Amino acid sequence: MKTSTNPVDIQKAPTSKIENVDFNNLAFGQVFTDHMMICDYKDGAWQTPKIQPYGPLEMDPSAKVFHYGQAVFEGMKAFKDEDDQIWLFRPEDNFERINKSSERLAIPAFPKEFFFSGMEELLKLEKDWIKKGFGNSLYIRPFVIATEAGVSAAPAKEYKFMIICSPAQAYYSGEVRVQFSEKYSRAADGGVGFAKAAGNYAAQFYPTNLAKDEGFQQIIWTDANSHEYLEEAGTMNIFFRVGDKLITAPTNDRILDGITRKSIIALAKEFNIDLEVRRVSVKEIVDAAKSGELKEIFGSGTATVINPIVGFGHAGQKFDLPKLEDSYAGFFKDKLTKIQYNQAEDKFNWRYQVK
Ligand code: COI
Repeated sequence: MKTSTNPVDIQKAPTSKIENVDFNNLAFGQVFTDHMMICDYKDGAWQTPKIQPYGPLEMDPSAKVFHYGQAVFEGMKAFKDEDDQIWLFRPEDNFERINKSSERLAIPAFPKEFFFSGMEELLKLEKDWIKKGFGNSLYIRPFVIATEAGVSAAPAKEYKFMIICSPAQAYYSGEVRVQFSEKYSRAADGGVGFAKAAGNYAAQFYPTNLAKDEGFQQIIWTDANSHEYLEEAGTMNIFFRVGDKLITAPTNDRILDGITRKSIIALAKEFNIDLEVRRVSVKEIVDAAKSGELKEIFGSGTATVINPIVGFGHAGQKFDLPKLEDSYAGFFKDKLTKIQYNQAEDKFNWRYQVK
């Protein structure tokens, strides 16, 4: 069905899976809603977006995404307030970032009108999947894949832009310990580290498995040249609190311009928290841990929100972080989630209502 006010073709699922879902016991990204949004790129243009029942795709085995990883994605969340209103958080930033990622991967830009109309129609269909209450959300995964058949190593002429949704609670189910990387790198100057390129994540799996064997859940990536500076965790940007000063690395072409990261920076300024955005050396953090000045490390990201780190490892040494009553992680999480769930004033105009 296509209506004149709505540039999205909608085919509803005949039945819903929702009754079979235990919303109090969700592992991240395992359950998906009843519908998905798809928009094809062919003959030099994005075609009319479609919403259809969630299900497998049929693709040629030679599609370029399978061979050259020409794929980018985004992570967003929808929240429901106490009056059943649905909110997105800074969705314009996700829209801009997916096209920035696409540009770096030679993927054609996606039109803004399709991004918003497709997502909003999808969320309206899936509104029952968005549960109220802090910690509950619907994780939204927009992504683009190169679908053109053929293994010549050149940008595809055909793509699919899609959105799938998954009800979410916490990303990490337990405590998070990180290892500072000494050998492997996530990104290099001039590379694709700033982009949400699918391959950035695949490249982390092997070193992360090695770190897991040593009792860490994540790696904090260091700069590829010297491994002396701490950059990001791959699923999260990273903040350090030394004394009462908050420090985080500046974004560059190796580090993702995280939306939660920049929201924390804005909140720190609003609440006069001493913040430095500058290179953070491994040495200063190890020294601060040894002298007791290192009070916190926490990660930030859409999926994880704000995730305290309980300890870290470097060069065979392990350090535990103190448990604080008045942590910055807790402070920012409270401020941020109250804005996201429409329980606090939205001074920065970050909320976007889906109507
Ligand atoms: C997100 O936070 O949305 C991300 O994209 C990280 C992902 C690996 C879960």
